[in-house]
Amino acid sequence: MLEERLDLPEPMAFSSPEERAAAIAFFNAAFRAEESGLRQAHELSAVMANSDPELSECLKLYGDEEGWHRQLLTEFLAWLGGSVRPMGRTTRTFYSLYARAHRMESIVLVNLMFETIGSTTYRLALRRATHPAVRQMLTILTRDESFHVPLNVHFLRAALAQSSSAPWRLRALYHSTLAALLASTVPSRRRAESFDHIPRSVLAKAYATELSRLFLEEDDLGLAPSALQLRVLGLDRADLMRGASTVSLEAAEKAADRDRVVVS
Ligand SMILES: [Fe+2]
Ligand SMILES: [Fe+2]
Repeated sequence: MLEERLDLPEPMAFSSPEERAAAIAFFNAAFRAEESGLRQAHELSAVMANSDPELSECLKLYGDEEGWHRQLLTEFLAWLGGSVRPMGRTTRTFYSLYARAHRMESIVLVNLMFETIGSTTYRLALRRATHPAVRQMLTILTRDESFHVPLNVHFLRAALAQSSSAPWRLRALYHSTLAALLASTVPSRRRAESFDHIPRSVLAKAYATELSRLFLEEDDLGLAPSALQLRVLGLDRADLMRGASTVSLEAAEKAADRDRVVVS
């Protein structure tokens, strides 16, 4: 991690004050996600320290990587001419609800869903970004967050193996979190669309697609969406299963050697 540095030349020129404000909002949201991921990973690592030292170390390293992202984002925000700002109302409510989760499988499931929408958002933003420094920042985040998705699938399996709570609880959490994430695209577009140029319909569809495909593929987790849910979300099961997943275990294996990862 420490060998990889951001190449930040002269400050970026924005086409309008709105675009600059939106860029700062976009990377502030990323900063808060990293911060939350770091804290949750280290808390879980401490919980697992005695029962499963290897899993605990893995969680520790994963949290450290989020900490590294947070550090890069702090540097990047300064380069944009911005800074880390206090959280807005929606974001604060989101993270305070999340911080109240106690069951390990609940924490990991929400984390897994955050990683999924994070890597999806970064990838969509990368598709549209042109500035080399913005592309470098988004490439690092897309690459690492894509790896965090299958990593959290692994954590979730480990948590479920130890869990005694009823499966409906996790399903209920999945559905409420999915609804909240889809709803979050409205304020997110208001704040960041002038920078990332991702239309709301595209972002919401991408969230629904990736969060459905993930659990269709990992169907032993018991969270695969039903035919009715897919119809409500406007998705087709056959289409989902056909498309190459960027967050599958296969993709994770390809991501093992960071220097050779090609972010597509
Ligand atoms: Fe991260
Ligand atoms: Fe992550």
